[in-house]
Amino acid sequence: YTAELDASDIEKGTYPHYMLKEIDEQPVVIRKIIQQYQDDQGELTISADIIDAVNEADRIYIIAAGTSYHAGLVGKQFIEKMAHIPVEVHVASEFSYNMPLLSEKPLFVFISQSGETADSRSVLVQVKEHGYKTLTITNVPGSTLSREADHTLLLFAGPEIAVASTKAYTAQMAVLSILAAVAGKARGVNLEFDLSQELGIIANGMEVLCDSKEEMEEIARNFLATTRNCFFIGRAVDYYVGLEGSLKLKEISYIQAEGFAGGELKHGTIALIEEGTPIIALATQEHVNLSIRGNVKEVVARGANPCIISMKGLEEEDDAFVLPVVNELLTPLVSVIPLQLISYYAALHRDCDVDKPRNLAKSVTVE
Ligand code: G6P
Repeated sequence: YTAELDASDIEKGTYPHYMLKEIDEQPVVIRKIIQQYQDDQGELTISADIIDAVNEADRIYIIAAGTSYHAGLVGKQFIEKMAHIPVEVHVASEFSYNMPLLSEKPLFVFISQSGETADSRSVLVQVKEHGYKTLTITNVPGSTLSREADHTLLLFAGPEIAVASTKAYTAQMAVLSILAAVAGKARGVNLEFDLSQELGIIANGMEVLCDSKEEMEEIARNFLATTRNCFFIGRAVDYYVGLEGSLKLKEISYIQAEGFAGGELKHGTIALIEEGTPIIALATQEHVNLSIRGNVKEVVARGANPCIISMKGLEEEDDAFVLPVVNELLTPLVSVIPLQLISYYAALHRDCDVDKPRNLAKSVTVE
C-alpha cells in the first residue's frame, strides 16, 4: 500500500477547524472504503490469508485505546453476529497487567488510528512472544503496529489531524463490518442483507446528518452551553455509541460527561441527576426502545433535561432529533455523527480549542 496524500487532505480549506472538516468527510470515507474492499465483481473482499487467520481462531481478542476501543466494542457485535466467532474487547493498558485466560487459538486484533499507541504496541510485543496471530486495523500504512503485526487492514480515512477522532472511528467500524461479513461468508453464515448496499445507505444518511449542523448547534446551545456535567445513555450498541459521545464531549468541551447502559444508571449514578442535568439518550434499536424510554422517564422524574436522538420509525413527539433509517446493526455509523457535532458546537460555545484540547495528544507513544 502507498499513502495517497494530496494537499487538500492536510489543509483546512474553508473549514474553521479540522474536526469539522473530518466530520464532514465521513460519507466520502465510507464510499472509499466500500470501493477499496470491493473486487471487480463488486463483491466485498479481504485477502484470503486474513480471512483464514480469522476463521482459524476460536476467539478474537480486540485490543485498543480511547476511541478505537469504542469502535472495538461495536466491532465485537459485528463479528459475533455476522461471523459467529466469540470476541473479547480489551483496553490495551489493562491487558498487559491483567491478562485474561486465553482460548486455545486466539487471534489478536489491534485497532489503532495512528498505529503508534504505546499501550497497544506493548500488548502486540507480548502476544507475539507467545507466537499468537496478530492483525492491525489502522489508518497509517507503515505504522509501527502495522509493521509488527502479521496482517494489516487499512482504514482509508485520509489523515486525521484533529485530536478528537471522528472519521477514523466510523472508518474502523466500517472496516470491522466488512471483516465480519467476509469472514462470515467464508464460514457459511447467511447474511440477510447486502453489506455494501447497506454501507452505501449509511454514507447517504451521514450526508443528511452533516447537513443538519444548525439543529446540532441548537441542541448544543440548549443542553450544553452552561452545564457542568452530562450523561449519555443507551442500550445495546447505543450504549457503546454513548461511551464514544461522552468521550468526544469530555475531550473538547471539558464538560464532565459519562456514558451508561440505560439500565445501569439507576444503580448509583442516578444520584447525580439534578434539576436540569442534560441526558442525551440514543434510541435506535427496536428491541430496547421501550426500555430506554423507560430509563429516560426515570431521570426526567428526577429533574433531568432529556435530549433523545431516535431512529425514524421509533421516534416520539418530543425527540430532539430523528436519524435517517439504516440497517439496525450498523446504526453506530450514523448515530455517532450528531454526538460528534453536538460536542463540536458545545466546545465552540464554551470557547475551547477544538482541534488541540488541553492535556491531550493525537497519538500517545508512552505507556
Ligand atoms: C489518544 C487520542 C485518542 C485516541 C487514542 C487511541 O489518546 O487522544 O483520540 O482514540 O489515543 O489512538 P489510536 O491512534 O491508537 O487509535
